[in-house]
Amino acid sequence: MHTKVWKHSTIIHEQNLAIEEAAALLRDQQVVAFPTETVYGLGADATSELAVQRIFDAKGRPSDNPLIVHVGDRKQVEQLVTDIPPVAKQLMDKFWPGPLTLVFPSNHAAAENVTAGLDTVAIRMPSDPIALEILLKTDRPLAAPSANRSGRPSPTDADHVIQDLDGRIAGIVDGGPTGVGVESTVVDCTTEIPVILRPGGVTKEDLQQVVPNVMVDPALANQEGQPKSPGMKYTHYAPESPLWLVEGDDEFFKSQLHQLIEDEQRVAVIASRELAGQLDHDNVTSCGSRERLSEVAGHLYSALRYYKKAEIDIILCESFSEKGVGAAIMNRLRKAATQKITQY
Ligand code: TXA
Ligand code: MG
Repeated sequence: MHTKVWKHSTIIHEQNLAIEEAAALLRDQQVVAFPTETVYGLGADATSELAVQRIFDAKGRPSDNPLIVHVGDRKQVEQLVTDIPPVAKQLMDKFWPGPLTLVFPSNHAAAENVTAGLDTVAIRMPSDPIALEILLKTDRPLAAPSANRSGRPSPTDADHVIQDLDGRIAGIVDGGPTGVGVESTVVDCTTEIPVILRPGGVTKEDLQQVVPNVMVDPALANQEGQPKSPGMKYTHYAPESPLWLVEGDDEFFKSQLHQLIEDEQRVAVIASRELAGQLDHDNVTSCGSRERLSEVAGHLYSALRYYKKAEIDIILCESFSEKGVGAAIMNRLRKAATQKITQY
């Protein structure tokens, strides 16, 4: 299949044409990747079983992992749910459009394969202007997982989508790099107390301003039990080479790096600017200051994609604070890691 790429353009007319063409393909049950404020999404008509199946085929995604439905306005939410719980209404008022996905009781208007047979449906309204335009022009809700091959780091740039999906989908709308860099926060609003199923762009601290008693899915804290967000159990975000996650101070990190170099391993490092500045080593990628975790989140997935397996034996990665968006960063790094090295 030929994948059409609409290049990022500042010319309004060209941008509009790209969106028109993308929307026409989506209405025709094709799969099109587009930017959101978190990561690139792989969109298809959420009411069409055939269109949604094409997402699973393109990604190689397990079919028991449900998709998030994206909407351009509130009317589309009402078309998909039995009711809007009061707490969901509060969260929508505060955080939509934005990186927050809410799980609602489903009325089964979404195709069966969107929800993997569950009685709930996950919905979000993205804030990226291109995503919103595409949703409004297509005039139907769009199922859209991250636009990567299953298991790979999510794409934060159109080039990442091309690496993974060129030739497998109808089109890619290039809107430049995304801002947030990690996916949306998923909150289950079908229980008495809302539960964070996946940490993401809206932090727990943000949520607590609206819902003080929001809970965190216990399956996120310990690896025990069946996670309620079905996608959380699969290998995710994996770079090409094994990733070793180091939890400890800077001196501990340096001693681990030296040991591996002595053992003649070809090591690459992913670290904060503060630690990177202390290292005398060739392959070091900094994802930003450890004092500004939003910056780290923004660069995390491109850092994970950077090193190629033919050149690197081990990627040694720093751990970050779990405050704010740090919870999402560490959730993704723990899932990407093949090994954890802990000082304490
Ligand atoms: O930021 C994002 O959320 C990106 C962009 C493209 O919007 N999308 C994204 O989708 O990350 P995906 O498919 O890669 O992740 C969807 C997550 C999975 O962990 C899945 O298990 C969970 O949402 N999910 C979907 N429907 C659910 C439901 N009904 N109940 C619980 N979890 C659900
Ligand atoms: Mg994903």
